[in-house]
Amino acid sequence: MAQNPFIVQRPIKYGEPFCNRTPEIQRLEKAANRSEAVCILSIRRFGKTSLVNQVLGRLEEAGWLSIRLDLSRCFSLRSMTREFERALFSLEGNWRRLLEGLKTVSRIRPQLGIDPLTSQPSIGFDFSRPADDAERLKYILEKIVGLPERSEGKIHLCMVLDEFQNIRKIDPKKDLEWLFRSVFQERGPLFVPFLLGSERHLLDMMIREESSAFFKSVTPMTLEVLPEMEVVSFVKGHFFSGLGLEVPEGRIRGIYRIFGGHPFAINWYWAEMWDLVERSGKMEPVDTWVDVAVRIILNQRDYYEAMNSRLPLGARKVLFAIAANEPVKRVFSRKFMVETLGMAQGSLQSAIKVLLEEDKIRKTPQGLVINDPLERLSIAVSELDEEAIASFVRERIDVAV
Ligand SMILES: Nc1ncnc2c1ncn2[C@@H]1O[C@H](COP(=O)(O)OP(=O)(O)OP(=O)(O)O)[C@@H](O)[C@H]1O
Ligand SMILES: [Mg+2]
Repeated sequence: MAQNPFIVQRPIKYGEPFCNRTPEIQRLEKAANRSEAVCILSIRRFGKTSLVNQVLGRLEEAGWLSIRLDLSRCFSLRSMTREFERALFSLEGNWRRLLEGLKTVSRIRPQLGIDPLTSQPSIGFDFSRPADDAERLKYILEKIVGLPERSEGKIHLCMVLDEFQNIRKIDPKKDLEWLFRSVFQERGPLFVPFLLGSERHLLDMMIREESSAFFKSVTPMTLEVLPEMEVVSFVKGHFFSGLGLEVPEGRIRGIYRIFGGHPFAINWYWAEMWDLVERSGKMEPVDTWVDVAVRIILNQRDYYEAMNSRLPLGARKVLFAIAANEPVKRVFSRKFMVETLGMAQGSLQSAIKVLLEEDKIRKTPQGLVINDPLERLSIAVSELDEEAIASFVRERIDVAV
């Protein structure tokens, strides 16, 4: 029995079936090799972590060390410092293993000492760290960033910081951002930081504003939806090689379009279909195709509704109006503000501000649009009952065949 190649509920590891993203992988590999700091921004569940897993896998095969930290688990400077400390320890372990592997060829002479905190041997680190949290963090960061230098150029190191925008939440005064920047600025050619985040509004302020710490010192890279053609060959290829079945291309395109190219929803859909088809041993009737999509849509509609229930009513109203009229070029026009919404300018202004800050909408040259394709879908079916959603799906996949 072939294993389900559509991985859900967790990031895709290196070596597991991963759809495309070839240009992004190449771009990031190139960035790593020239020590170019990159900030990867995307909507939630678009595949940032999975993408970085592919890049790190390739770099590790080429002899790199990597270190990853998820800053969404850090709620204070202290907890973040501890995370970095833990990362430094594990890095030290990996380094040791690498050194042992290199023993015969390496000229590195690590200074073996004993870490007073853990009584474990430590290589070349001075563990008399400063007591002040910020100083301590800086000290540890410098140790991490300087590792390739201390290895006399034997080690290349890529550091991935997930949900990087959290440092602004931990320290709205931005001192932390300047601290990171100052350490990153001192990096040598064998160290590269990749910064990941899903809160676009915050990240934009951190890297695109001229007065921000990372302006021009980090390259922004936005992850878009998966290309349709790539999804078609990914799905078609796996169903054929794994189950010996030809999935009609039009169906794959129909599903792709319903979910607006959202990688998470698409992979989830095909994972479910795979299980059903594998069990029955044949291509399922169209009703099954529809049922699976309806279940996912209902689930995601609940998800977005729960998330949006904390938005002010005015903002929700504007969100729905934008979804129905996007792209909205002239928000404060009589037609949109008065006729469509019946709102005063002040309330509309504050609603837009909330929606932008919450990453619900974004500005494009064509006007305001809904940020997340799955949210767009959830809004489009918000008034429909299950039967009507089934027709909505059927029309799109039947036409696409
Ligand atoms: N290139 C891809 N090919 C196939 N499936 C993908 C791809 N990228 C993402 N996915 C699907 O999307 C899901 C979410 O991916 P991942 O966890 O990497 O996203 P993320 O952007 O890091 O999410 P979060 O915002 O929650 O951290 C995966 O479990 C997988 O099902
Ligand atoms: Mg992630």
